Amino acid sequence: MLTQQENERLTRTGPNTDMGKVFRQYWIPALLSRELEAEGAPKSLRILGEEFIAFRDGEGRVGVVEPRCPHRGANLFFGRNESCGLRCAYHGWQFDTDGNCIDIPTVSEKVAESLKPKAQLVSLKVQESLGLVWVHFGEQPGDVPTLDFSELPPEHYFVSKKLQQCNWAQAVEGGVDTAHFSYLHANIDGGERVGLMPSQGINEPPENGRYRWMIEDSSPRFTVLEHDAGLVMCAARHADNDQDYWRLTQFMMPCHSMAPNSFPGDNHVGNTWVPIDDESCWIYCYTYNPERPLTAKERTMYAQGFGIFASVDDDFVPLRRRENNYLIDRDMQKNSNFTGIAGISEQDQAIADSQGLIADRSRELLGQTDLGVVKFRNLMFEAADSVAAGRSPRGADTPAAYRVRSGDAMSASGAQALDVATDRFGVRAGVNVR
Ligand code: FES
Ligand SMILES: [Fe+2]
Repeated sequence: MLTQQENERLTRTGPNTDMGKVFRQYWIPALLSRELEAEGAPKSLRILGEEFIAFRDGEGRVGVVEPRCPHRGANLFFGRNESCGLRCAYHGWQFDTDGNCIDIPTVSEKVAESLKPKAQLVSLKVQESLGLVWVHFGEQPGDVPTLDFSELPPEHYFVSKKLQQCNWAQAVEGGVDTAHFSYLHANIDGGERVGLMPSQGINEPPENGRYRWMIEDSSPRFTVLEHDAGLVMCAARHADNDQDYWRLTQFMMPCHSMAPNSFPGDNHVGNTWVPIDDESCWIYCYTYNPERPLTAKERTMYAQGFGIFASVDDDFVPLRRRENNYLIDRDMQKNSNFTGIAGISEQDQAIADSQGLIADRSRELLGQTDLGVVKFRNLMFEAADSVAAGRSPRGADTPAAYRVRSGDAMSASGAQALDVATDRFGVRAGVNVR
């Protein structure tokens, strides 16, 4: 439970808010690279409650600049994207991807030269990696974080995004709470909760058994470890033959997670939650396989909506969303799955939205399985305190510490989380994991 004041502090990310100042210390994704074509249409975007225009010039460089033309305030969304920059549609002033004014055709050359420095647009620092356009609000940022799949060729990963119609923090809390899998993502058979995969009974392979164990044990025991980029949430459930089944979730500051549900060889998945404003966010979704390229069939499946990937329209808005109650089907809820909503992603999305545009944490009742959520909040508050004290928040200066892995593991009953995580992931459990 948080006080109203703490709830506000956690959730608000606009300019001059505590958490807004935290987010502005990090590189965060603003777009998918494929949303911007060279000399193609500029895109309006809102990030952390601020408006920008993004465009890719003829050289392939990306600019993310304030939308207001400094001449008389026309919106550069209507501009022409010409080979060396964006030209305002009103009187033709032109700007490059760093926000420099490079042409003022309405005055003499001499006057233009004196006006140009005053006509500089606010622009964000931009880097592209992993199929994403990353932005930073600071002046001299370090490197973009290195994620677990950063060294893989593009054939090994697939990246997309989806709109979430509520505050970023409750959506993250859904991502770091693996306890809900026992209910929210359960199937129904004969009126009973069952796993997502048909059970093959005791001694079935763990890839299948995990779905049964998540039904049989709905109160996983949480241990939360820390590392230099964030946290590892370790949740143990009873499995067969005196074994524990572990789901290990990574959270990296300020808004990235690597999700469980992957044994060695499986595709891994992760998310980044980026506030659009305080009542909506973009969720960037990744899947990758460290050992092999993704197949064409897998790519199609993810693009159409599967697992953490939603079925979305051309603007990445989920087809099942707040306005249509996620197409909830009460017959389906009675007979085939716990929510009556199709799709793991849509189930997560619906339940986070249902907590309100901004969840009221002053009225909640937390238990042991909410430990990951509590640690996430504490970490964010610790970051806000650091920034207020003039220090860098965790992870902001250590991009290499983001190369962490998540997934599933088996252990003897009662094993310690730190041993399980380091046995399973080695150094990719986290830098200075503790
Ligand atoms: S308002 Fe943009 S050039 Fe005049
Ligand atoms: Fe979920």
